[in-house]
Amino acid sequence: MNLIFLGPPGIGKGTLAKMLAKNLKVPHVSSGDIIREEIRLKTKPGIEVESFVEKGLLIPDDIVIELIRDRLKKDDCKNGIIFDGFPRTIPQAEHLDKAGIKINKVINFTASEKTIIGRISGRRMCKKCNIIYHIINIPPKVEGVCDKCGNKLYQRKDDKPEAIKKRLKVYEKQTKPLIDYYKKKGLIVDVDTEKPIPEIFKDTLAAIE
Ligand code: AP5
Ligand code: MG
Repeated sequence: MNLIFLGPPGIGKGTLAKMLAKNLKVPHVSSGDIIREEIRLKTKPGIEVESFVEKGLLIPDDIVIELIRDRLKKDDCKNGIIFDGFPRTIPQAEHLDKAGIKINKVINFTASEKTIIGRISGRRMCKKCNIIYHIINIPPKVEGVCDKCGNKLYQRKDDKPEAIKKRLKVYEKQTKPLIDYYKKKGLIVDVDTEKPIPEIFKDTLAAIE
């Protein structure tokens, strides 16, 4: 089953995608995680896109499409994929169509802007395990330290107020049109995220049945 997780920055796509990927035994393909890894490794695309990400802008379509194309060549993608953060523009969605990748459902996560900003600004991550924490909602056992590996948690550079504002604007202009794109194909299911994570997880499972 191929699923797309759609929704504004910070709504909880990554958190839910990790849970569902484990449950369905399919890979969680996060374009953001892939891009951050390229930046960390200082690869050619990584160097090219670093300033876009820090400013809260989308990286060019051709670069992200190439990165996703490489990821989809791996064997683990044969039985299904959860796309998180891709596609993010109409040309990216058209690429999936042209590549013959059949999408079964598009989950459109919703929440108020106040909730979203609270989630992004409190997020902390582990570079090693990629675990997502929140200083209030999902705190680690010891403040600032990953429960699993003991490494220091960090705040993403694009989780600072200026970049957050920009990312929300970019979402409205460039990504929201995808809701209509997939509505026309009859694939959209809305999932309200203004509730505890176990409930959202249940709603997401119901949405893909
Ligand atoms: P990306 O990494 O995809 O970021 P994003 O879409 O902005 O989404 P986030 O990862 O910020 O949020 P999320 O929805 O995953 O929320 P999370 O689960 O972490 O992209 C980053 C950048 O890369 C882009 O700005 C762009 O530059 C580039 N990029 C990526 N893809 C691209 C593409 N396709 N094209 C072009 N450029 C691209 O949760 C957030 C917080 O809330 C966490 O702290 C979590 O613990 C907490 N939380 C989650 N759910 C709940 C809940 N229900 N209740 C309470 N707390 C919760
Ligand atoms: Mg994410």
